[in-house]
Amino acid sequence: MTPVSFNNTVLRDGHQSLAATRMNTAQMLPACPQLDGLGFGALESWGGATIDAGLRFLKEFPFDRLDALKKAAPNTPHMMLLRGQNIVQYANFPDDVVEAFVTTAAKHGMDIFRIFDALNDPRNMACAIASAKKAGKQAHGTICYTSSPVHTTEAFIRLGAELADMGADAIVIKDMAGLIPPAVTFRIVSGLKKCVKIPIWLHTHETAGLGAATYYAAIEAGVDAVDTSIVPFANGTAQPDTLRMLSVLQDHPRRPEFGPEKLKALSDLQSYFGRVYADMSAFTSHKNEVVDTDTLLYQVPGGMLSNFRTQLKEQNMQDRFEEVLREIPVVREALGWIPLVTPTSQIVGVQAMLNVKLGRWKNFSPQAIDIALGYYGQTPAPVNPDVRKLAAKNSGKDPITCRPADLQKPNMGNLRRELESKGLPTDEEHCVIHAMFPMELATYYKERNSPPAPEPATVSVSASAAPVVSSPSRQRKFRMELEGVSHDVLVEEVS
Ligand code: CO
Repeated sequence: MTPVSFNNTVLRDGHQSLAATRMNTAQMLPACPQLDGLGFGALESWGGATIDAGLRFLKEFPFDRLDALKKAAPNTPHMMLLRGQNIVQYANFPDDVVEAFVTTAAKHGMDIFRIFDALNDPRNMACAIASAKKAGKQAHGTICYTSSPVHTTEAFIRLGAELADMGADAIVIKDMAGLIPPAVTFRIVSGLKKCVKIPIWLHTHETAGLGAATYYAAIEAGVDAVDTSIVPFANGTAQPDTLRMLSVLQDHPRRPEFGPEKLKALSDLQSYFGRVYADMSAFTSHKNEVVDTDTLLYQVPGGMLSNFRTQLKEQNMQDRFEEVLREIPVVREALGWIPLVTPTSQIVGVQAMLNVKLGRWKNFSPQAIDIALGYYGQTPAPVNPDVRKLAAKNSGKDPITCRPADLQKPNMGNLRRELESKGLPTDEEHCVIHAMFPMELATYYKERNSPPAPEPATVSVSASAAPVVSSPSRQRKFRMELEGVSHDVLVEEVS
């Protein structure tokens, strides 16, 4: 029997989920030779929130980190998480920017592009998949797992088949909230294995305590690879730990080969990352390390629950916690049962709070309007027609059914001119980062030429809900203006 392959996420999701994405390149490099020698199928080393957090908080130019990690771990394929047409941001970008980003990342050595869309709309993944393949790299078509009346096993298998037809090199089931039950995993993986001829990979989180059992079920069903991390950047809200998974698979015919030398290297890595974790105590929290069964009860990512508690307390609305939670499925259903992952987890969370605070659908966030009107893509089920009508009336915008990026004009030329006018480098690397993080890139260069300044307390608001206030956790605070009233909203990255 073919052993299951383990990917390692300690350099990306491990610290994104447990330490606010704050591990810096210098903390990663000493571990790279050992990580590279352990026989992991891939090292997830970049993408997701690391690009934003690296630039914003750690003052690292993203492509410099990729170069350094590739040099330090040259033998194992490197993998990144890419939000389809959103790249690593919250809004859609034109095709030429998506293609330039993928091509540039490929040039810097990225091997595997794990491409997902928060709505599971394959049209939003098409450009990134085609770009990765054009660059001679692997494009993995990714299915965001969620539960709803329309998210049946058959629907997930159909989506997997569609992504395979689009040329994906593998299908990934991405269970960003750790909600997928082992029995469901078994059915979806078995179905996909029968239906598509490419490898099936699985990514989950141990948030609700299901992760290791879920992997076991997937391995029984023939999954080709699963993601593990290394403690203390493992378990809890991150991926199951590698050594732990090896124990779970003891005497299993598909257990990967980790002889005594590799086990020793793994435990050395645990000690190393233990010291890094201790150094990062400002960004870690005990609540992320322990099993949180509330997340199963409410079927929402754990991060959303803690955000609601903080947020409602700030607004003196603690007693409305249950009410807001009950509103989440109402909002999801009205918006076509969208999965909860960055950025939809934020959008649904904010709208649920607005519905409870101000009355159901009395106010829409700009992002909820865009979802209702099709500007994020096709929702898994139709949007409630009354909510769609209200969204159109409130915004004066027309609903669309085309692929949203078809409405966007090429932008690389403008980006280059903008960088030129600011006196910044105008290569592709800077253009794609400037497209997503203009203020952060400008600040990065300003601070390089002057003594470090404290993190800004407040900056301006943009229509795409750019995070405006940072806090030393996974949370970001947004300020939203609704009918002249200012609301502070806490959100959290879920991936
Ligand atoms: Co994840």
